[in-house]
Amino acid sequence: MADTKVEGPRGLDLLTPLADKVRVRGLDPGDATLLTDHLLRLPARDLSTRFHGGMSDDSVRSYVARINWRDTLIFGAFIEGQLRAVAELILPARGAEGEVAVSVEAPFQRMGLGRVLVLAAILAARRVGLQTIRLTYQPRNFAMRALAAELGAKSAGESQQIDGVVRILQRGENRPGA
Ligand SMILES: CC(C)(COP(=O)(O)OP(=O)(O)OC[C@H]1O[C@@H](n2cnc3c(N)ncnc32)[C@H](O)[C@@H]1OP(=O)(O)O)[C@@H](O)C(=O)NCCC(=O)NCCS
Repeated sequence: MADTKVEGPRGLDLLTPLADKVRVRGLDPGDATLLTDHLLRLPARDLSTRFHGGMSDDSVRSYVARINWRDTLIFGAFIEGQLRAVAELILPARGAEGEVAVSVEAPFQRMGLGRVLVLAAILAARRVGLQTIRLTYQPRNFAMRALAAELGAKSAGESQQIDGVVRILQRGENRPGA
């Protein structure tokens, strides 16, 4: 019989070292202030990579105020009760491609929160019948580039921006004999 013993982290620890501290849940309009505060805590550089351009505090507030919560599924990662990272899945008005944007506060980066949240968004996208999701980032955003590659995104891009497209396995597609 094959040796199935795994050394090191197991379960959710394989995805994030914050496994025993993180709580992931969907956000709703009642969380708008938490979301605004999270975005305002991002350093200017990260805010700009998240929004593909500079954002003032007021632009952040009006961005959150204008979110169409019916067509936007937002997942948040809470550490000790504070919202520290977010993935937003924007559902298309037409077609079957969603868009995902993600932000992780600087002290919590490189701890798997982006990975866990984008995975949640991909699985939600599958449940609502999307076929692909698109992650858009600048070519020098090596963190996002690596995260997109880890999630199996195919990159198409030019000098200004890269689109990482993740094809979503459809229900039934992975059944034996399907
Ligand atoms: C891009 C971003 C979301 C990544 O989130 P994160 O939680 O730090 O990333 P994770 O810890 O989940 O990383 C998952 C994998 O991506 C890769 N990765 C993440 N950050 C990396 C970095 N700085 N350098 C190289 N690879 C990196 C690694 O392969 C990593 O796995 P590993 O740590 O086990 O090696 C985060 O850096 C961020 O919020 N940046 C500012 C906003 C932004 O650029 N958003 C993207 C455009 S919408």
